[in-house]
This record gives sequence, structure tokens and C-alpha cells, in this order.
Amino acid sequence: MSHEVTGGAQEPETPNLDFAGTTPYEDYVQAEVLTHLQHPLSDDPGEMVFLVTTQVMELWFTVIVHEWRTAAEALRRDDLPVAMEALRRSTYELEALNAAWKPLAKLTPAQFNAYRSALGEGSGFQSAMYRRLEFLLGEKSASMLVPHRGAPREHAELEKALQEPSLWDEVLRLLARRGYAVPEAVLRRDPSLRYEPDPAVEAAWAEVYTGPQDSELVRLGEALTDVAELVWRWRNDHLVATRRAMGAKMGTGGSAGVAWLEKRARKNVFPELWTARSHV
Ligand code: HEM
Repeated sequence: MSHEVTGGAQEPETPNLDFAGTTPYEDYVQAEVLTHLQHPLSDDPGEMVFLVTTQVMELWFTVIVHEWRTAAEALRRDDLPVAMEALRRSTYELEALNAAWKPLAKLTPAQFNAYRSALGEGSGFQSAMYRRLEFLLGEKSASMLVPHRGAPREHAELEKALQEPSLWDEVLRLLARRGYAVPEAVLRRDPSLRYEPDPAVEAAWAEVYTGPQDSELVRLGEALTDVAELVWRWRNDHLVATRRAMGAKMGTGGSAGVAWLEKRARKNVFPELWTARSHV
């Protein structure tokens, strides 16, 4: 290592420029692959940011799915610190995901129309990674696998995610192990079915929240509430962007569009964490 000394002050070393093959940065990040995956379908200059925003969101979905799977596995082995750390990271990632709406939040119908027809029947509704995210929240549905029949890897991953207990299932099993009265029917439910709110689970959370506010379970409940709120914000930001960009037109995915998204956005994530609050 050589440090040239000029005038008594030490010059900072410049970065290395010379690599035998591709740079170690490229080997790790695969930036060349990532920055050549943009193939707009129209000539409209505004399509690029629509495409890249969608790709950026897919990457965030991937990270968040990773965090929630880490959290679910940690809960299964009663490792609260690891679960809490993963949930906390996921809230920062959800904030970054939600901030990614900015460039699309104010599209006018004419601006969106400039490339909308090029999307054909393509719709975020067909995102396999978003579906895994919903499955982890307990929003399971076997019919959501149907669009992915033609993509064996994604179909297999979704099938596995459908059968696995959700993050919420693992939370409720933990509550039961901590002595809370979670019904057997909830603990033994078929994990491939959509989770339905249960009054006894609501009562268990009300009991947790009535106790010491610095308890592990209150802190877990609050971390999950943060996640739920941020997911709700993503759905609502999507809804408002859609309303601005296309009014009440039908979606490219074939749904009623805004009316369908409104129904989805009304659902509460981890429902009993919200309803229990009325009983504390
Ligand atoms: C302003 C731009 C956008 C508009 C107008 C829009 C419109 C819609 C509409 C109408 C639907 C309902 C399904 C359909 O019939 O197509 C939908 C679903 C969906 N979109 Fe978008 N979208 C936009 C941007 C995005 C972006 C950037 C993403 C990021 C991946 C995304 C992800 C999704 C997902 C995941 C669903 C399914 C939601 C669910 O299953 O509850 N959308 N979108």
C-alpha cells in the first residue's frame, strides 16, 4: 500500500480501476442484467418510468417476502428477537416501497393512455411475488395460482406458499404457546384457506394489550400493526393513482378497475389487531 505525502497532507487513495474480468461490483450486483431488463412496448417517453417503477416494486415485494418468511420461521422456534428485527426491517422497506408511488401518483388519463393499450391484458394483478406477499398476510386463495400455470417455477413457489402457515398463523400459534386462549379450530385450520377473523383471537389480543405496555407481545403486536398500516397505505396509494390515471374504466387485467381495488383496499390486514382495540 503506497501513500504519497504531499505538503505534509495525506492524499486519499483513488479507487482501483484495473480488473482482469468484470468488476467485483458487477459480479455481486449484476447491474448490467438489471439495467438491461427495460423493454418498453410503446414509443411514449413516459412509459419507461411506469415500467421501472413496476420493476422496483417487484424487487421490494421480493425483499419483504424474504423478511416475513424470516419472521414466520423465527416465530415458529420462539425466537422473538430475530422475528422482531425482520419485521422492523420490513416496515422500513414498506416505507420505501410506498415512496416509489411518487413518479406515478399524478398521471393524467391522457398520459396513461399514451402507453396503456401497449400493456394489452398485462396487470399487476398477475404479479406472483405480490401474491406471495398477500398469502403471507393470510389472504390465501387457490384460484390466484391459475394465472401462473404457464410459469412452473412461480407456480411451484406459490403452491408451496399457499400450503404453508402464514405469518399470522405463526403469530397465533405463538400466542397459544404463551397461554392465550386461541381456539383449536384456529390453530388447526387449513392454512391454504383465507384467514377469517375470530372473536377469541380478538379477545386474546385485547388481553395482551390490557397488560404491561412494554411486554414482548405488545411490542410484537405493534410491529405487526405497523406492517398492516403500511400495506393498507400501499393499497390506498395504488387505488388513488389508479383513480387519477383511469377513472372508472375497466382494468387491463379484466376487473372492474377502481371498484374492485376499493373492495380490496377495505380489508384490514391482521384484522383482530385492529378490532381488539375497541375492547382495551
Ligand atoms: C397508475 C398506474 C396503475 C394503474 C392505473 C393500475 C391499475 C390497476 C387495476 C385497474 C388493477 C385491478 C386489476 C385489473 O383489472 O387490472 C390493478 C391491480 C394490481 N396492480 Fe396496478 N395499476 C397501476 C400501477 C401499478 C404498479 C406500479 C404496480 C406495482 C407492481 C401495480 C400492482 C398491482 C397489483 C399487485 C394488483 C393486484 C392487487 C390485488 O390483487 O389486490 N400496479 N392495478
